[in-house]
Amino acid sequence: MPETVKIFDTTLRDGEQSPGASLDRNQKVEIARALEALGVDVIEAGFPISSPGDFESVQAVTKAVREPVVAGLARCQKADIKAAWQALQGARQPRIHLFLSTSPLHMKYKLKKSPEEVMRIAADMTRYACSLCQDVQFSPEDATRSELPFLARIVETVIQAGASTINIPDTVGYTTPGEFEILIRELYARVPRLKQIMVSVHCHNDLGMATANSLAVIRAGVRQVECTINGLGERAGNAALEEVVMALKTRAKFFGVRTKIQTRQIARLSRLVSTATGIVVQPNKAIVGGNAFAHEAGIHQDGIIKQRLTYEIMNARDIGLKENRLVLGKHSGRHALAKRLQKLGYHLGEKELQAFFGRFKELADKKKEVFDEDLFALMEESMDTPKKVYSLEHVQAFSGSGMVPTAAVRLIKAGQVLQGSGTGDGPVDAVYKTIDALLGRQHKLTGYAIQAITGGTDAQGEVTVQLAGRGRVITGRGAHTDIIVASAKAYINALNRQEVMESRRAHGKKKTLSK
Ligand code: KIV
Ligand code: ZN
Repeated sequence: MPETVKIFDTTLRDGEQSPGASLDRNQKVEIARALEALGVDVIEAGFPISSPGDFESVQAVTKAVREPVVAGLARCQKADIKAAWQALQGARQPRIHLFLSTSPLHMKYKLKKSPEEVMRIAADMTRYACSLCQDVQFSPEDATRSELPFLARIVETVIQAGASTINIPDTVGYTTPGEFEILIRELYARVPRLKQIMVSVHCHNDLGMATANSLAVIRAGVRQVECTINGLGERAGNAALEEVVMALKTRAKFFGVRTKIQTRQIARLSRLVSTATGIVVQPNKAIVGGNAFAHEAGIHQDGIIKQRLTYEIMNARDIGLKENRLVLGKHSGRHALAKRLQKLGYHLGEKELQAFFGRFKELADKKKEVFDEDLFALMEESMDTPKKVYSLEHVQAFSGSGMVPTAAVRLIKAGQVLQGSGTGDGPVDAVYKTIDALLGRQHKLTGYAIQAITGGTDAQGEVTVQLAGRGRVITGRGAHTDIIVASAKAYINALNRQEVMESRRAHGKKKTLSK
C-alpha cells in the first residue's frame, strides 16, 4: 500500500485572505462540511484572535465536522494561543498552528527582534501551546528566505519543545521546485528528528509555482501539503488542492503516494467556494476551469472520439463532472432529478426535494437543458440566506441607444409592498438605484461580475455583487436566464445578508473575545 499524503485545507483561513473574499459563519460551516465529505485530513478553520467573527466561525466549524483535525492559527503570543485554544474547545481533534518569522528580513523589519530572541520565543510559545493542546504545528514563516543553519536550529528547537508537525512555508512564493526539494532534504539531514514527525509544506503562487513546489518535495519525504480550493489565498493564492490531489492521482506511479480525497467531490467544492467568495474561476484553470475538459480543435475532437486518452490525461468524471448524458429538462420527473442530485453529492429529504423540484421545473421551462452547473447554482440559491427581509416581486428594465435606462421594481419588505421606478447609467444601475430609493438608503457597490453558468444563448447568467459597509464586504449572488433579474436577485441577496449581520450585531450576539 503506498504511503498517504495528508491534505491540510486552508481555504477558510489563507483562502479567505484572498483580496475581495470574505465568508460569513454559515458559509464557512457549509464549506467545512463539504471539505469533510471531500475527505481532507485537516481543516484550518481560521485565525481566532483576528476578529470576533473569525473566533465564532472556528467554534462553529469545530461543531460541524467530526472526522478532520480542526486547526486554529496563532502567532507566537500567549493571547493568540489562548484564543485559538478557546475557539477549538468543541473539536474532536484540535490543532494549534503556530507561526513565527525566521528570515533575516522579517526578523529585522517586521518583528524587530534578534534571531536569538526569535529562537527563545518559538521555544517558549511552542511549550505553552503544547501545555494546552496535544497537537501543535509550527511554521517558520518565510522559511524559503531564511538562512538554512538558523532554520534547522529553530526546527530542532520547536520539535524539542513538543511540536508534532513542522510546516515549511514558502510565504512569498519565491522558491522553485528543484531548490525547494534541496531545502527539505537539507533539513532532514541537519535535523534527524524530523524523520519521526510530520513534515508539511505551504506554498504561495506568486511565480505560478505553488503546485509544482508542493509536489517536488513529496519525493524528499514531505507527507502533508497545505492547499486551498481553487488556489485561493493571500495575493496570487496558495497551491490549489484540486491540482495537488489530481497530480498525485494521475501520476501515482511517479510519486508513489496516495491521498484520501474523494476526488468526485472536487467540482462541487470548487463551485461552492467560488459562489461563496464571489471569486470566479478562470476558464483555463487546471482541473476545475470551465475549459479544463473542453476540446475545441477539430483534430483533438477527432482524436477524442476515436479514443478519449489521446487528448485527456484525466477523466472528467473523476472530479465529479457530468457522469452521464442523462438530459434533465422540463419533461424530467422527480426521480431523475433526485438521482442526479445524489450523484452531485446532495441528499434531500422528501419535503426538501418537493420544494426543490418546483424550482427546477420553473428553470426547466425557461431552458432547453438543465446542466449540473445549473443544479449547483439552484441548490446554492435555495440554501442561501437563512432569513429573508427583502424579497423581489418584480423587476423590469428598459434600455437601448438614444434612451435613458429606466427600471421598475416591486419588493416586499417584512410584508409591506414597496414599488417604484428610477433611472441610471445603464439598466443594472437603474435597477440598483431604484432599489436604494425604495429602501431610503444608498449602498456602495464595490464589485459586480457576471458569467454564464453553462453555454448557449439560453444559459443562466450568474451575477455576483459585493457591497461595502461598516468595515466589511458583503457578497450576494443571483442566477436567472434574464441577466437583469439575476442582477436584482444578487443585490437583494447581499442586502438580506447585510440585514442578518446587522441584526446579529444589534442583538449583541457577537461575543467579545475573552483573552
Ligand atoms: O504563508 C504563510 O507563511 C502562512 C503561514 C501562517 C503558514 O500562511
Ligand atoms: Zn500562507
